[in-house]
Amino acid sequence: SAAEKGGHEYFMLKEIEEQPDALANTLRGHFEAGKIVLDEQRISEQDLRDVDKVFVVACGSAYHSGLVAKYAIEHWCRLPVEVELASEFRYRDPVLDRDTLVVAVSQSGETADTLEAVRHARAQKARVLAVCNTNGAQIPRESDAVLYTHAGPEIGVASTKAFLAQIAANYLVGLALAQARGTKYPDEVAREFAELEAMPAAVHKVLSTVDQVRDMGRKLADSKAVLFLGRHVGFPVALEGALKLKELAYMHAEGFAAGELKHGPIALIEEGLPVVVVMPSPKGRAMLHAKLVSNISEIQARGARTIVIAEEGDDRVRPFADELVEIPAVPTLLQPLVSTVPLQVLAAEIARTRGYDVDKPRNLAKSVTVE
Ligand code: G6P
Repeated sequence: SAAEKGGHEYFMLKEIEEQPDALANTLRGHFEAGKIVLDEQRISEQDLRDVDKVFVVACGSAYHSGLVAKYAIEHWCRLPVEVELASEFRYRDPVLDRDTLVVAVSQSGETADTLEAVRHARAQKARVLAVCNTNGAQIPRESDAVLYTHAGPEIGVASTKAFLAQIAANYLVGLALAQARGTKYPDEVAREFAELEAMPAAVHKVLSTVDQVRDMGRKLADSKAVLFLGRHVGFPVALEGALKLKELAYMHAEGFAAGELKHGPIALIEEGLPVVVVMPSPKGRAMLHAKLVSNISEIQARGARTIVIAEEGDDRVRPFADELVEIPAVPTLLQPLVSTVPLQVLAAEIARTRGYDVDKPRNLAKSVTVE
């Protein structure tokens, strides 16, 4: 009913709007007496200190949350981080031992491939930490440590608030590791946590662009394909934006690392092709920002219709943006928490305009428990 959907036409829009709460609830209680705390920890502090390699294994949007977290965990912990699709990880012969930490990210905690990846990792003596939105699900039950996301039940098949909560939880895992390893001073961990705590308000602010983005979505509904470009943490955001559009609008969509433009994607640019670009901060990442501006000018010169997600006050990119969505200025590593939101809205509105069921896309299931 409309009431269940909080007055919205579909659950996904309600869940998009619940994202500030999903983040706040996920962070709550995880920084106590100056330390990051997990929910369940059956790994000793010593073993956490001894971790020398991290794998993040997951499927779908959860996999993208891992790709985002790689940038933060490597930076904070000085540990190599590999992010793998669970369905590939479990059929390879990944190099694992007791000093490997495998982070299994799953909203449902029941995804078959992720569960099997957990079992494989444990059989190889790796430590497994689950990031999960469902209390007592199979994946957390079989893991050595658990951090629950508190996004609340997610009805829409395409993940939104659980995805944002997964990014926040993965970051807490990174801070817990940095704290155990001493690669960050306690006051630095405290500062990072405080920055995370400021994100619900930033996400709330970006929600004020929903109506503008829905208008844009209606204009794009007849497109044949949409490309998404980003770099650094904006790259996995581009992948997530493309996945949302495929899932919901059954439209061909692809995400690319902007630096790869000249290695292929630019050949796809033709008159009128919509290209969504996730811009880094002009201040926080000036060099990457300049490179992206140059990329946009090139694709615009070739006739692309540019849809730019950029920090508010980013005047350098404005001349190259056919459509501009402004997001609040936040620390670089946290930008995915705001830049993903317009892409979710865009995909949902394009799907709605095309007459599709936003909450129940064809052929997809909320939780893939058989391979
Ligand atoms: C399905 C859902 C996605 C989700 C993925 C992984 O494909 O449609 O939204 O990201 O499964 O699910 P999990 O429960 O493991 O996070």
